[in-house]
Amino acid sequence: MVSELSSDVEQHPTALGGAVAARFVPAASFDDSVLLHVENLRKEYRSGPQPLVLFDALHFTVRRGEMVAIVGESGAGKSTLLHLLAALDRPSAGDVYCASTWLGKLTAGQAAAFRNREIGYVWQMHYLLPEFTALENAAMPLLARDMPRPTAFAKARELLREVGLEARMHHLAGELSGGEQQRVALARALVTEPRLLLADEPTGNLDNRTAEAVFGLLERLHTTHRLTSILVTHNLEIARRCGRTLRLHEGRLHELRLHEGGSEDTSIEMPNASLETPGHPIVRTAFPGGNSTGTA
Ligand SMILES: Nc1ncnc2c1ncn2[C@@H]1O[C@H](COP(=O)(O)OP(=O)(O)OP(=O)(O)O)[C@@H](O)[C@H]1O
Ligand SMILES: [Mg+2]
Repeated sequence: MVSELSSDVEQHPTALGGAVAARFVPAASFDDSVLLHVENLRKEYRSGPQPLVLFDALHFTVRRGEMVAIVGESGAGKSTLLHLLAALDRPSAGDVYCASTWLGKLTAGQAAAFRNREIGYVWQMHYLLPEFTALENAAMPLLARDMPRPTAFAKARELLREVGLEARMHHLAGELSGGEQQRVALARALVTEPRLLLADEPTGNLDNRTAEAVFGLLERLHTTHRLTSILVTHNLEIARRCGRTLRLHEGRLHELRLHEGGSEDTSIEMPNASLETPGHPIVRTAFPGGNSTGTA
């Protein structure tokens, strides 16, 4: 992975037995079961007279195979956070380690290669190219790797079959329904066989039934492709089914437990030693009787 990108990219400390980047060893200990580690992450924008601090001191870990939902009100910074996890944007402070890669050390070119190799990204607006077919859209990340077209199309066809769209593969993306477009976006995200799937409101613009079908598909793909998945959603029932839910609220992360049906309860603060950085406790919010959340 990293070594394929560039030898000057320092790896996650665990990848080299702690020999590299010791001062960035996170406070929480973590091992090969961890895919993503976020350390004291801050993002602010300086477009207005006052800086807009979206979040600060975010600190969390996601283990391989976890399915994590991120919820929070509009404008809380959920999309921005996903962008940082995918090295699409740079944090104002803090570090992200993902798939043994320290994202802060990547050049723009290395970040693009990292994304193409490790990340499947489903955008809030799916960003399919409407004048290209479903097949061409799904094959796009492989064509960007200069994979020969027949091989790329064969792989894309396989993914479109998995998402139930083989019969539509020669349709232009602009001719597909919203649910179908979102399924093509999933096929495109997974065609490179990434380890981490980041999906920004993948069911956000769909009616309930279609949203359920797309989420059911996502759950299946998560399992069959052995993914680690992080989903932004406003749907608390979908969040509950993810097994672990983080809420971004007023610049901090809260870990939630949700009742069946997505109902909420009173919140309590539950500092977690393995997630805690001195001075920056993660706030955990419990919803008694709900699904137990995994902790790092
Ligand atoms: N490039 C930018 N420059 C300045 N402000 C920005 C920029 N990008 C996002 N913002 C602001 O950051 C805030 C968070 O945006 P973001 O898109 O991350 O929110 P979100 O939680 O995903 O919201 P939604 O649920 O509506 O998608 C918003 O108030 C937005 O206006
Ligand atoms: Mg958003």
